[in-house]
Amino acid sequence: MSKHSRVNRPIWFDENAGCIKVIDQRRLPHRFEVAQLETVDHVITAIREMFVRGAPLIGATGALGVYTILASDRSRAMDDGHFGSECRRLKEARPTAVNLAWGVDAVADAVLPEKTASDRIRACLDKAFEIIESEVENCRRIGENGMGLIEKISREKGKNEPVNILTHCNAGRLACIEYGTATAPVYKAFENGINVHVWVDETRPLNQGARLTAWELSGSGVPHTVITDNAGGHLMQHSMVDLVIVGTDRTTRAGDVANKIGTYLKALAARDNNIPFYVALPSSTFDWQVKDGMEIPIEERSPDEVRFVTGVDRDDTVTRVLVPPQDSPAANPAFDVTPAHLVTGFITERGICDANEQAIVSLFPENRRDDVS
Ligand code: MRU
Repeated sequence: MSKHSRVNRPIWFDENAGCIKVIDQRRLPHRFEVAQLETVDHVITAIREMFVRGAPLIGATGALGVYTILASDRSRAMDDGHFGSECRRLKEARPTAVNLAWGVDAVADAVLPEKTASDRIRACLDKAFEIIESEVENCRRIGENGMGLIEKISREKGKNEPVNILTHCNAGRLACIEYGTATAPVYKAFENGINVHVWVDETRPLNQGARLTAWELSGSGVPHTVITDNAGGHLMQHSMVDLVIVGTDRTTRAGDVANKIGTYLKALAARDNNIPFYVALPSSTFDWQVKDGMEIPIEERSPDEVRFVTGVDRDDTVTRVLVPPQDSPAANPAFDVTPAHLVTGFITERGICDANEQAIVSLFPENRRDDVS
């Protein structure tokens, strides 16, 4: 049981206050703060400014966020034009994770047939809760399906030798609600007594690995080491990485993977060193409309996220400091695309498949398209 178990989800609905509550992930690991989201503008800010982040959590926040459109002004809850334009605004909060539009659209489809404001609000919450619970279950299954990969390596190495897993960014429970995607097989293996050790890429510029993945693993007692983003290739060359598992924000039907900037370089290094590179994802992260990863919109974020770093000083005061010269420009593409040919396989709620359209669609036949598969 995690020592952070009193907070076991990064988002929840407070029935008494009638509002959404989220862990403000910008403050972790040095501060634990909860934010209250009462209007759609609060929800959009929370997604854009990354109080909440990670594809499945962004999807869940979008789904639950529809509630704020209906409940903050009940007199407009039956105004379909207003509802549609507010849903569009919500979907535009961040561009890369496909889960956001998926979550908002699924809830909007459940809401629109209802004929009273109260029924719309009820339908909205019911659907959002259903989505959240099904994402939790999907992540649990990803853990079960992925554990075998770790178990097999452990058998080959012998149980005294840890299985070294490298991960990038945070694809843990903070990104997902529970278990995580990339971390779910690790937690499952750890629970089952398998000797594991995780190399945690710090993940500049916002350090989701160093701040969030390390916080989660530490809370659960999983052995781990934070490394610079540039250390992975070296560790792989020296047989210190057995397996790479990452998450994704959007994966095309042909298996191209958009994930946190730097993922592509890890995949290249893994291929050069013959190390398996797996991507863990729930089906909500597949974009069934897109084949070519180069069509995925890549978010450009503020250069200030590159220029400044935040941490605590010796007095435990949170401090933000400038790194490059004041007048040096910076660029901040937030994601990159790893082509399918560099991916060993996908770990999904339905099982593991190869990274090609035929294999993906065999696991998810409801998305088969006769013209292409
Ligand atoms: O910018 P972020 O922190 O939202 O990026 C998150 C990632 O890149 C994760 O790896 C991805 O969303 C998968 S989360 C299970």
